[in-house]
Amino acid sequence: MEMTKRPRRLRYGESLRKMVRETRMDKSALIYPAFVMEGSGKEEEIASMAGQYRYTIDRLLYKMEDLLDAGVDKVMLFGIPDHKDEKGSGAYAEDGIVQKGFRAIKERFPEMYLIGDVCMCEYTSHGHCGILHGQEVDNDTTLDYLARIALSQVEAGADMVAPSDMMDGRVAAIRRLLDQNGHENVPIMSYAVKYASAFYGPFREAADSAPAFGDRKSYQMDVHNRREGVKEALMDIEEGADIIMVKPAMAFGDVIHDLKERVNVPIAAYNVSGEYCMVKTAAQMGYIDETAMMCEIAVSTFRAGADIYLTYFAKELAKCMDEGRIG
Ligand code: PBG
Repeated sequence: MEMTKRPRRLRYGESLRKMVRETRMDKSALIYPAFVMEGSGKEEEIASMAGQYRYTIDRLLYKMEDLLDAGVDKVMLFGIPDHKDEKGSGAYAEDGIVQKGFRAIKERFPEMYLIGDVCMCEYTSHGHCGILHGQEVDNDTTLDYLARIALSQVEAGADMVAPSDMMDGRVAAIRRLLDQNGHENVPIMSYAVKYASAFYGPFREAADSAPAFGDRKSYQMDVHNRREGVKEALMDIEEGADIIMVKPAMAFGDVIHDLKERVNVPIAAYNVSGEYCMVKTAAQMGYIDETAMMCEIAVSTFRAGADIYLTYFAKELAKCMDEGRIG
């Protein structure tokens, strides 16, 4: 049969397929989110996130070693404090759990790149991401607290901060305080496009951070909105964000794609707890091929335009990259 165009020509053989790949990834793009808690000698598995743990600092160090061995050299740290209060004071305490975690990792593994999640929900007794005024999260009051959290994390050794609270104006507030304290070279990765998503369910169990009343819809974005993602990103870039994040990742490829066209900063995507949970749980049931599914989801996020990928699967993905399964 006469046919000048045969797309199959480029699909014969792994070597050729790899040459014409449109999406390339490598381990330097991976960030592993880790949970750290008070105490010693303990690691508690998170029920809804099989294979993920809350670590005491001594145990967390073993995990860091493990990640570095696999070629993952970036982590984002989430703290689980022993005590919570109205004003989330554990979030910006010099001896807060995350601050202690950063110091310990930096001392033992200086090559590990540390990122602080800047938020209040794990530290407030009410579980909201800011300071309450009545039943509402008060935007402008919260900004000072967020900036203090960021500064305390940087002083403890964080190389980058990532505000995830979704208050308006927080990137500017954080940038200002960091600069005033001589940290003008510490980048801000803003969770600029963060949706009010059901996919965070397992995380809230892991970090014990579900809101005690109401929900987060007055600060996190409505999942119906796409153009608003561009608006949020542009505003944060204007305020000084160096990297923009979209969260969750898997169901928001359209938004990642839009940002790729509209902004000129690196784009991160967060493969969140609910996405991890779905893959793990379905695999445990024997219904899916976990590794293949994990790889395909990761590739799809990079294909949509992500440059950076936060994922609980970081170590496993790194292994797949080493083996040439993806990359
Ligand atoms: C807020 C924060 C959350 C996640 C990361 N930072 C939870 C939320 O907004 O409720 C979710 C991450 C995940 O689901 O994996 N500190």
